[in-house]
Amino acid sequence: MAGSDTDVIGALRELLGAENVVTGTDALAPFETDWRGLVRHPAIAAVTPRDTAAVAATVSACRAQGVAVVPQGGKTGMVAGGVPAPGRRQVVLSLSRLDRIRAIDTVNDSITVDAGCILQNVQDAAAAADRMLPLRLASEGSCQIGGTIATNAGGTQVVAYGSMRHLVLGLEVVLPDGRIWDGLRGLRKDNTGVDLKQLFIGSEGTLGIVTGACLTLLPRPGGQVAALVALPSVEAAIAAFVAIRHPLWTVLTSIELFSDDGLRLVLDHVPGARAPFASPSAYYALIELSVHTGDAAPARETLEEAIAGLIEDGTVTDAIMAESETQRLAFWRLRESVSEAERAAGGSLKHDVAVPISALARFIGEVHGIVERVAPGARPNIFGHVGDGSLHVNIRPPEGVALRDFARDGAVTRAIEDAVMAFGGSISAEHGIGQTKPDSLPRQKSEVELALMRTLKAALDPLDLLNPGKLLPKSGIDAIDTGETPQKA
Ligand code: FAD
Ligand code: MLT
Ligand code: ZN
Repeated sequence: MAGSDTDVIGALRELLGAENVVTGTDALAPFETDWRGLVRHPAIAAVTPRDTAAVAATVSACRAQGVAVVPQGGKTGMVAGGVPAPGRRQVVLSLSRLDRIRAIDTVNDSITVDAGCILQNVQDAAAAADRMLPLRLASEGSCQIGGTIATNAGGTQVVAYGSMRHLVLGLEVVLPDGRIWDGLRGLRKDNTGVDLKQLFIGSEGTLGIVTGACLTLLPRPGGQVAALVALPSVEAAIAAFVAIRHPLWTVLTSIELFSDDGLRLVLDHVPGARAPFASPSAYYALIELSVHTGDAAPARETLEEAIAGLIEDGTVTDAIMAESETQRLAFWRLRESVSEAERAAGGSLKHDVAVPISALARFIGEVHGIVERVAPGARPNIFGHVGDGSLHVNIRPPEGVALRDFARDGAVTRAIEDAVMAFGGSISAEHGIGQTKPDSLPRQKSEVELALMRTLKAALDPLDLLNPGKLLPKSGIDAIDTGETPQKA
């Protein structure tokens, strides 16, 4: 039975207290707009429940009123998944007040937290217990544990520790019908049937709202060694990775690639950023080792020797070892600011792709060909997680062309996605599908896969109340839209 907006707001106020129900165009703006500024679609209200029971009660109340619920974390997602899509009456449910560290177990090496905890706060809590939560991403000061679970976030240490999926031991989830599933177990082994938590990891808030998580902890590194190397090409970056990964297997925790185009953006837009090398190179790689036991000196020596060999054979043209923690962090600032700097420069057409590592260099060559052919003058900004075969292929419009005009016909994206498919890759390595890419999904997923995804959605959320307009293409259960097309950019 659909209630009017006034009914919905009244019911939510009664449930959560008026101070936790945000209404009105201006006050709702931050809840409705995404990090990239791509979309803004209206919500009836935004709510900030304080605990799992209040989240469950909110979901039940919205269901009773016939309105959809959009789970929202730190709102750093790149595909507008945590903000309303067009065409439905909906309430944004922000997890921000679920921000308690529930327990740290240093014998089990696990931490149990509310889903609204900021990732950095959980990293800090782990560090205070002499442990490490090894998920690291540039948005860690804002993104939440629930958001990183819902998107199966990757980041800069996946090469060593895997993505969020590999770190989740247990989950607590509010289901679309308002029931709470308590799967908050800290077990590493549990073969009692289907591993239900996997359904929710990476499902972008379409199957349930994560309210709590038990995560695995690792020993805190005793030392970190970083080097920034200059490279003439992507081929050289792959060659460098292949040369160091086995000798440094036990300590290599990051190998991150960025181009001179990306570095220029950072130097132009990030206050205090300084060019690391006297002369530019086509690409740079930030290599980091983390040493868990003993002294970092032997690892440093192995890295220095490996880099010296790579300089000798021409793979690497220049290199700087970080001589201090300040310098190490300055290297990271250059790499991690690429996105922010690109946004300050007007944004880009983003493609967040993976191809087999062995195909990366050929794939990038193909991308440059596509840009020259389909969009002459457009400016590629390619960076990312080379050790995972995961790259951000961001294409900035030609000078003087507005991003929206450049994005309109979708030709560049189609051609890049064709190349991704031809190389056996993925059109979303990290950021998910959200409301910007559902129409691309059938290009990658077979009918069988899509049908299975729809079956799961229909089983858990037959009324399509949770995060409608996200993830699944607009057919089957999602065909409830009013027809307004989500903007692609
Ligand atoms: P939001 O953006 O709020 O939401 C993302 C999705 O999760 C939405 O679909 C939302 O509905 C859903 N959601 C949020 N909370 C919950 C919950 N509790 N239960 C169920 N569903 C929920 N991503 C990477 O993977 N690797 C990177 O290296 C990386 N680097 C980034 C760097 C920058 C500068 C920025 C801005 C973003 C980066 N991202 C990266 C993307 C983003 O930070 C991640 O996708 C992150 O996991 C999103 O978390 P969030 O809390 O901000 O979620
Ligand atoms: C990163 O690796 O820095 C990100 O995932 C951000 C981006 O894609 O822009
Ligand atoms: Zn990334």
